[in-house]
Amino acid sequence: MSAQQSKILAIIGQGYVGLPLAMAAVDAGWTVIGIDNFEAKVTQINSGSSPVEDISDSKLQAAVNNGSYKATSDFSEVAQASVITICVPTPLDDKREPDITLLHSAASGIAPYVSNETLVVSESTSYPGTLREVIIPIINSYKPKDSVTIYFASAPERVDPGNSIWNQKNTPRLVGGINESSQIKALEFYGTICDAVVSVSTPEVAEAAKLLENTFRLVNIALVNEFTQLCSGNGINVNEVIDAASSKPYGFMPFRPGVGVGGHCIPVDPLYLTWWARQHGGTAGFIETADSINHAMPKYVSQRALDLVDSKVKNPKVLILGVAYKPGVGDVRETPVSELREHLKTAGAEVAWHDPLVTVWEDSKPVDLTWECDVAILATKQPGMEVARIIATGVQILDCTNSVKGPTNVTSL
Ligand SMILES: NC(=O)c1ccc[n+]([C@@H]2O[C@H](COP(=O)([O-])OP(=O)(O)OC[C@H]3O[C@@H](n4cnc5c(N)ncnc54)[C@H](O)[C@@H]3O)[C@@H](O)[C@H]2O)c1
Repeated sequence: MSAQQSKILAIIGQGYVGLPLAMAAVDAGWTVIGIDNFEAKVTQINSGSSPVEDISDSKLQAAVNNGSYKATSDFSEVAQASVITICVPTPLDDKREPDITLLHSAASGIAPYVSNETLVVSESTSYPGTLREVIIPIINSYKPKDSVTIYFASAPERVDPGNSIWNQKNTPRLVGGINESSQIKALEFYGTICDAVVSVSTPEVAEAAKLLENTFRLVNIALVNEFTQLCSGNGINVNEVIDAASSKPYGFMPFRPGVGVGGHCIPVDPLYLTWWARQHGGTAGFIETADSINHAMPKYVSQRALDLVDSKVKNPKVLILGVAYKPGVGDVRETPVSELREHLKTAGAEVAWHDPLVTVWEDSKPVDLTWECDVAILATKQPGMEVARIIATGVQILDCTNSVKGPTNVTSL
């Protein structure tokens, strides 16, 4: 372990990435200080109420009560840590380019308190060079004078919220240190938490690999979304085609069509790559095309749903089932359902929504399943959602989730 020999970990950002990491580290015998600059979240977490679906209140309460975990907004507490991981959001700005303001503020926040021989790891997703060109210069400029040696690595988080099989522990972790001693420290640290650690030669390789993984998903989803429009226009059920193609035992991987892409990762990370390409005089036209295909999906879905309504109905009532960007989470960040709702409204529809995991969305409240509609759109199939009740009413349903087979009033995308 580090020169301090303390098994104290500080995690900056207690969200979908930081809090599960904190609990995985507690399980591995670490004492964890979870730092978050959102005071209300710190209070909520310390009261034992988890803001993240994958972490139960009881798990959090046990860690808080036995002293192995606490949340705070006081950055000076990182001085006790032998390892600091940065897990803050890396969104897009209004030009749809990387906004790394929060990474800047996280690095500036910890810099004055980083002790000598501490390992600092960035887990946030960003473009290659972020650790070396952004985080390290900030920390080296503002660190305490006697903190002569700081180790640095990039180890991008791969967590998939709501996934009951793959988690922090059993998902192999990429680690790219800035030099050999940093690499040894980082491999040693992640070796205490993860079952498998994959050593790569530089932080840039780790950063780029993370972007490649999510871009792979973006372009494959775009391919299938485009393919869906071709099939549907010619009377072919795309999901049956995908099932058929999936019978090939090699060289094919099924992706399913949907309302678009959402969440903090798939719609965002590939644009870090397109921006990075432009900074280096290149272009990533393939990724840009995929991005625009996915962005066109909400309009396409809106039209497909309205086509199911009797043309005599002037202002159809549309019920959207599921607004979170994927099943099993209440996360509505970048959800394509926002654009879907806008397109429906522009077309004159009255729109309501229902999602058992979301209580408020864009200042609107959900309705229950008794809300009478002319058409329902199954956008995200949430656990606990009583879709059968809607099917039983006989109303037309557009299923964008490939989860309902058989009923004549259900049309798949
Ligand atoms: N959510 C995912 O599925 C996922 C998966 C893999 C990687 N990532 C990446 O991990 C990073 C974090 O994402 P997330 O989903 O956990 O975000 P999140 O919004 O769920 O949580 C981030 C937390 O950081 C806090 N925060 C923001 N700026 C801060 C600062 N300067 N100092 C202290 N706290 C600060 C916020 O208050 C918030 O609680 C991003 O780069 C994201 O791309 C996310």
